[in-house]
Amino acid sequence: IKHLRSAADLDAATATLILDTAAEMAALSGREVKKLPALRGRTVVNLFYEDSTRTRISFEAAAKRLSADVINFSAKGSSVSKGESLKDTALTLQAMGADAVVIRHWASGAPHRLANWVDGSVVNAGDGTHEHPTQALLDAYTMRSRLGRLDGLRVAIVGDVLHSRVARSNVLLLTTLGAQVTVVGPPTLIPLDVAAALSEKTQVSFDLDAVLPDSDVVMMLRVQTERMQDSYFPSAREYSRRYGLDVSRLAKMPEHAIVMHPGPMNRGMEIAPEVADSPRSTIVEQVANGVSVRMAVLYLLLGGK
Ligand code: CP
Repeated sequence: IKHLRSAADLDAATATLILDTAAEMAALSGREVKKLPALRGRTVVNLFYEDSTRTRISFEAAAKRLSADVINFSAKGSSVSKGESLKDTALTLQAMGADAVVIRHWASGAPHRLANWVDGSVVNAGDGTHEHPTQALLDAYTMRSRLGRLDGLRVAIVGDVLHSRVARSNVLLLTTLGAQVTVVGPPTLIPLDVAAALSEKTQVSFDLDAVLPDSDVVMMLRVQTERMQDSYFPSAREYSRRYGLDVSRLAKMPEHAIVMHPGPMNRGMEIAPEVADSPRSTIVEQVANGVSVRMAVLYLLLGGK
């Protein structure tokens, strides 16, 4: 494939190749190979129109570990504030010879538009409420490395599904790889049309307590208050009481089951601090795995040697 704009771009064989390549990248890093020459002479542009900590830093680390030249572009402080369009910004990057553009944008579909204007590969690093495919890949990688498989794994994705690009990409990727996904949350945050659009293979539940004992993975989502209207979200206390993962709910999960969160977290809202910091949590591991997975994506898209 040339671009990674959606988890739907990946069939099972391609997704597995990315996960296997990421495992090789992680093994090399474990052997203290700090830099690989695979993308020497290639240029990766990080084009970020929305804030990011994990994704931006890990794409930069991934590209540098593969010896690529990295240009970091943040909309803040650029000519975007003077009204420059995405297309004109893209053409400017094109003129600088970008081999890959990693884009995060507040508009759903921006990576698809960008792919029409640049010759290089486009990687979606999160577009609006649409998708975040490399997050889904690093989540799948983390599940596979902790639990040994994805096929048949029971995954609960919990919370603000309506606004979550992480949920959308995970549903697409995990069902492609044979996992059984249940999305869980209040009816206002999983309208049935959204649930149906996610995947016909996905179950929906409004009862977290009923789902926990039958889950191998519980993935908590950030409550995106910045995208919320009052009608979606009655109160933080009520949300936390019904859908927050606290210590007593953690005890309802099977002993082998893991807790995930893509970050950033609202500690005390969707996840209690004791749960986020417990040995059952893979939150820090997910961040570390993100570098290996993004190395694999850049390496495979750019035909690294
Ligand atoms: N998970 C994730 O996308 O985090 P950032 O917004 O910090 O990149």
